[in-house]
Amino acid sequence: MKKISGTPLLKVRNLFASVEGKEVLKGISLDVEAGAVHVIMGPNGSGKSTLAYALMGHPHYEVKSHLSKVKSSIEIGNTDVLNLPTEERARAGLYLAIQSPIAIPGVSVMQLLRTAYQLLHIEQSQKINETPNIQNPVLVRRWQANGMGLTEFVRRVKQFAGQLRLDESFLSRSVHDGFSGGEKKKVEMLQALVLAPKIAIFDEIDTGLDVDALRVVGKGIDVLRRQKTGVIIITHYNRILRYVTPDVVHVLVGGKIVDTGAAALAGKIEKEGYAKYL
Ligand SMILES: Nc1ncnc2c1ncn2[C@@H]1O[C@H](COP(=O)(O)OP(=O)(O)O)[C@@H](O)[C@H]1O
Ligand SMILES: [Mg+2]
Repeated sequence: MKKISGTPLLKVRNLFASVEGKEVLKGISLDVEAGAVHVIMGPNGSGKSTLAYALMGHPHYEVKSHLSKVKSSIEIGNTDVLNLPTEERARAGLYLAIQSPIAIPGVSVMQLLRTAYQLLHIEQSQKINETPNIQNPVLVRRWQANGMGLTEFVRRVKQFAGQLRLDESFLSRSVHDGFSGGEKKKVEMLQALVLAPKIAIFDEIDTGLDVDALRVVGKGIDVLRRQKTGVIIITHYNRILRYVTPDVVHVLVGGKIVDTGAAALAGKIEKEGYAKYL
């Protein structure tokens, strides 16, 4: 397996999650490093979306284990966010693009981006101002971004939209309102690029995309990788993997990670399916 250097940005330990009283995740542990792309594959109903929601702190997912002695944690940097609400997790650097994003009539894509960017970055940038660490390019970039006025912000958003081949008219439309499946996924990718999270999770980003859109999404993931975001791609088939080469592939079956390997593991699953894990 390709060696990934650096301490993990995201450290998950013994994560259990129940929904409607049913235990779906049965002890997940996972490390994601800066700039690394991890893929989580698994058949339908194996708990992939539950994992994404549990990481992000969705209130419907209870993250306690019935085994009282098990200590669970979700660390981002040195902060355990397991007991924090979703917005605090976002501030700590977690971003989730959900499988089926909902429309927000009356809020434009640009308004959402600007508001989210300010809420996520200003406090952090102030802290960084106190101790600017010029050895860390990610922190320096965020620190510089703190002085970003509206004109510069809009310019950057348009630049990313161009890279994703998303027409500028989408920026003034209501979020996901009447967008096609592919357009929704591109807007989710645009948010990730603009918000520059530490860890970005994409749940079924490849579902319903044509080859062109898959290629564009693949490019977006490459940009995130270059800006040192750790990426988790969740998928039940491996079409997106023709456009992104992951560093690590995990197989999730029955709420457990049953196998982990290099990119070649995805190819093996395409050929052999999940039968041997069931
Ligand atoms: N809100 C919910 N209410 C009841 N059961 C749920 C809910 N969400 C998920 N589940 C159940 O949890 C299991 C895992 O679902 P999910 O995480 O969506 O799987 P995947 O994303 O891998 O297809 C399934 O058996 C599903 O029916
Ligand atoms: Mg799912």
